[in-house]
Amino acid sequence: MAVEFSQETLKRYDEIVRRYPQKEAAMLPVLYLAQKEFGYLSPEAIQYVAELMDLSPARVYGVVTFYTMFNMEPIGKYHIQVCRTLPCALVGAEKITALLKAKLGIQVGETTPDGKFTLSEVECLASCGTGPMMQVNDDYYENLTQEKVEEILRSLK
Ligand code: FES
Repeated sequence: MAVEFSQETLKRYDEIVRRYPQKEAAMLPVLYLAQKEFGYLSPEAIQYVAELMDLSPARVYGVVTFYTMFNMEPIGKYHIQVCRTLPCALVGAEKITALLKAKLGIQVGETTPDGKFTLSEVECLASCGTGPMMQVNDDYYENLTQEKVEEILRSLK
């Protein structure tokens, strides 16, 4: 399937690239833009970004696979990312993940059959003083407890 940016996204792409001395330096925001546009970064999307930025697909693929914020598979409507790095781990991140697994009936890396939730474990999200914490799409939820997690899940329609 051919993928390409909409006219509006192409305009946004031009604005981003103009801010950097070299095109390649804009790769992270451009990949983020591509993920927003396409939902996830398929091999076709990676190829498209590589062509747009005059880079090899392997170079783009290397960046995509390095960062947990990029998804190479379709994800659920709500992408729940639990921080598992030491400061969060010390205050119970594992229990939060176990609770989410039980509540959603999926393992880390999986999506619920209705396509609503994807569960991931990620490294530090720079909110270390308020762990355990998780990110759901663009929002942070901090100082998590079992009750809070249950309430958050109920609020996600
Ligand atoms: S260790 Fe969890 S946000 Fe930094």
